Amino acid sequence: MKRTGSVALSHEETLRQKAIIEKLKHRLKDRELTYFITTFGCQMNAHDSEMIKGILEDIGYREAVLEQEADFVIYNTCAVRENAEQRVYGRIGHLKSIKRKRPEMMIALCGCMMQQPTVIQELKKKHKHIDLVFGTHNLYKLAELLETRLDSGSAVYDIWDAHKEIVEDLPTIRKHRFKASVNIMYGCNNFCTYCIVPYVRGRERSRHPEDILKEITELVEDGVVEIMLLGQNVNSYGTGLDLPMTFAELIHEVEKVEGLRRIRFMTPHPKDLSDDLIQVMSVSQKICHHVHLPIQSGSTRLLKAMNRHYTKASYLDLVSRIKAKIPNVAITTDLIIGFPSETEADNEDTIDVIHQVEYNTAYTFIYSKRTGTPAANMEDQIPESVVKERFNKVLEAMDIVSLKNSEKHIGNTYELLVEEVNHKKADWVSGRLEDNHLVHVQGDESLIGTFVDVKIIGSKTYYLVGEII
Ligand code: SAH
Ligand code: SF4
Ligand code: F3S
Repeated sequence: MKRTGSVALSHEETLRQKAIIEKLKHRLKDRELTYFITTFGCQMNAHDSEMIKGILEDIGYREAVLEQEADFVIYNTCAVRENAEQRVYGRIGHLKSIKRKRPEMMIALCGCMMQQPTVIQELKKKHKHIDLVFGTHNLYKLAELLETRLDSGSAVYDIWDAHKEIVEDLPTIRKHRFKASVNIMYGCNNFCTYCIVPYVRGRERSRHPEDILKEITELVEDGVVEIMLLGQNVNSYGTGLDLPMTFAELIHEVEKVEGLRRIRFMTPHPKDLSDDLIQVMSVSQKICHHVHLPIQSGSTRLLKAMNRHYTKASYLDLVSRIKAKIPNVAITTDLIIGFPSETEADNEDTIDVIHQVEYNTAYTFIYSKRTGTPAANMEDQIPESVVKERFNKVLEAMDIVSLKNSEKHIGNTYELLVEEVNHKKADWVSGRLEDNHLVHVQGDESLIGTFVDVKIIGSKTYYLVGEII
């Protein structure tokens, strides 16, 4: 079972958890039970929540319409920025009065926030109405933890500081039947100085290619046409496997899965994006021409302080190589504004990169101080008013280049994967182009999950309007 540097798969543990699910199913069968789960944070968490749902539904729980009426309320939390944490504390506070009226309501907290000892201390001290707390490494034990809670009648806290084994093949409920995310690795070794993720998700561990390919093949057999390969730095995939494999090699294998139409991946760290990957993408029929390439800052000085291991010049060079090989590629990014010691000139560097790269979209974040990270102790934290002003300048620059990118699509025809009914107009649907652009077209529910050819007839900063041809 041991596999050095990667992750050990434990089939015994999977069977054990499935047996507990069966026991609970029997034990709770006389009551109609409901759950309500709220997921904060990134796609890793969204993916974890699919497993939580799968386990609960196998036990017999059904999804509640309203949180306050649910028998089991779960928050899958994120620790990456302070406001995500504050929202969780706000929601738990609100649940206190509901639980006073309905003491049988169970409340579970899990995910990245729970991996921080200060959070656990705070919960134990001030939030005694929480029933179940677990972290990112033992999510698969949900059924067992629930059983312990029911048996003991008192709160259960179970947090591990590292991964012990990988438990797969537990039930999951996918949000969409036609697209799915697949973890190719867990954790992160990069320790960017602002970031909490390596502390809450542990060290980098790659899944074995055969396990990944088996999962994808099964998903495709189940109707999935688009796969998102997930990892904090997908470019370092495979280091540490007993038979090392690069990400470029893995994705080349994924391409061979018959019936799969689109492959996406997230996130490639700019320091490790290889020419081999660019080459594989340039000849691929399935890998989407979209690279999410978080730069964080355009200032070489700040990039060094962030421990990102690239410079403004080397990043721009990488973008040129990608654009040269992959025509019409969409590049998107993440930006942090207000990192300690940031100057006006540093912000100008970021804006300069925005204009040079012409990103399709950028997720722009205000720097959030995370206790335990090196940046939290750096001098010269930037006042909020200054950060806000710089943030607005960055958004203005992004609006200009995004609109320019959108306008380039006018008059062209593309294949659109229809994903959902439009949020505003019931007789319209929305979907994504291969370059990840959001497109709205007239159409009905029956198109969801299908590919349609569309001609682009209108463009706004962050979406396009098309008509089916
Ligand atoms: N592994 C990915 C990022 C995962 S976190 C990568 O390296 O690209 C997603 C984004 O959150 C980061 O890209 C960064 O822009 C943002 N982020 C992380 N820590 C932050 C902090 N302390 N304050 C503000 N934004 C942060
Ligand atoms: Fe955080 Fe950096 Fe790891 Fe991304 S690569 S998760 S930003 S430490
Ligand atoms: Fe994701 Fe937030 Fe955890 S961004 S990895 S859910 S800290």
